Amino acid sequence: MATNLRTTTFNSCPSSTETDDEGVQGTCEDASICKRFAVSIGYWDDPYLQHFVRLCKERKAPEINRGYFARVQGISQLIKAFLQKTKCHCQILNLGAGMDTTFWILKDQDLLPDKYFEVDFPLIVTRKVHSIRSRPLLSKPILELHSEDSLQGDGHMLDSKRYAIIGADLRDLPTLEEKLKKCNMNAQLPTLLVTECVLVYMTPEQSANLIRWAASSFETAMFISYEQVNMDDRFGQIMIENLRRRQCDLAGVEPCKSLESQKERFLSNGWETASAMNMMELYSRLPQAEVSRIESLEFLDELELLEQLMTHYCLCWATRGGSKLGLSEVTC
Ligand SMILES: C[S@@+](CC[C@H](N)C(=O)[O-])C[C@H]1O[C@@H](n2cnc3c(N)ncnc32)[C@H](O)[C@@H]1O
Repeated sequence: MATNLRTTTFNSCPSSTETDDEGVQGTCEDASICKRFAVSIGYWDDPYLQHFVRLCKERKAPEINRGYFARVQGISQLIKAFLQKTKCHCQILNLGAGMDTTFWILKDQDLLPDKYFEVDFPLIVTRKVHSIRSRPLLSKPILELHSEDSLQGDGHMLDSKRYAIIGADLRDLPTLEEKLKKCNMNAQLPTLLVTECVLVYMTPEQSANLIRWAASSFETAMFISYEQVNMDDRFGQIMIENLRRRQCDLAGVEPCKSLESQKERFLSNGWETASAMNMMELYSRLPQAEVSRIESLEFLDELELLEQLMTHYCLCWATRGGSKLGLSEVTC
C-alpha cells in the first residue's frame, strides 16, 4: 500500500498553541494556498485568487493538485447546473467560503445569481474584506452591479446589491440568520448552499443543526457538501491520526464513514433527495480532453496515491422542493 509514502491530505493544521477555532480558521489559508499553486501551474484559470493569497514556493504533490482540480471542477459543475435550472433567478450561500472566488468567476461568465452570499468567521472575513476594498480588480465587479458608489459595511462584513460577505459562526444559527436577513437574504428564492470542506470541522450535532436550519428556511433549495468519506478504513484512520498529531481534530468525522452516511445526514434532516459520489468516480466522469490536459502538466508516478486520496473525499448534494425546476435531476 502507498499509504505510508506520502500521507498528504487536503487539510492543514495550526501550531499546537492555537485554540480549536483558530485551527479551523487556519484551514482557509491552506485550501487557498493549494488552489493558488494548482492555478499557477495551469490546472485551471482563476485570475482572482492571487489577490487573496500568496504563492507558496514549495511545490504541492501532483495527487494533491489533481485532487483540487477535481474538487473545483465538481463543485463548479453542480453550481452551474443549479444556475441553469433556476435561470440564475436564485441566491447562493457559500458557507465557510474562505478565500473562494466563485462570485468573481460567475460574474465574468455572466452567470450571477440574484445575490451571492459568503459567510466565514469574522477574522477570515475581515481579511477578505480588506483585500476586496484595497484591490480594484475585486471591488470593481461588485460596484458595477451596485446602485451606489460605495460599499456598505465595516471590517466584519460588506453588503451590496449582488454580493454580501458576513462574519458569523455557522454554529450560532439565530445570529447567522439575523445577519443574512440584514443583507436581504430572500427565503422565497430558490437557494443553493455550499459547504466546501467545512462541515467536518463542526460536531455532527452542529452540522446536523445547520443542515436542518437550511431545510426549514428555504422551500426550494439545494445543498452541496464536499468533504471526507470512507474515514473508517485504514487510510481514513491514518488521515485522522496524522491530523490529530498536528493538533487538528476532525470534530465532525462521524458522518464521513461512507457515501450512505453522507446522504443520510441530509435525508434525516429535512432534505428530500440526496446523492453522493467519491472524487475518483467524479474524476473519471470529467471531460476526457480536460483530464488529458491536466495529466500532462505533471508526472504522477504513484497512481495508487491519487486513488487513495480521491476515494477519501466526496461530493454530496441534496435537494428539497423544486420539482418544477427539476432540481432532483441535477448530477455531476
Ligand atoms: C478548509 S477551509 C475551506 C474554505 C473554502 N470553502 C475552500 O474550500 O476554499 C474551511 C473554512 O470553513 C470555515 N469555517 C469552519 N467552521 C466555521 C464556523 N463554525 N463558522 C464560520 N466559518 C467556519 C473556516 O474558517 C475556513 O475558512
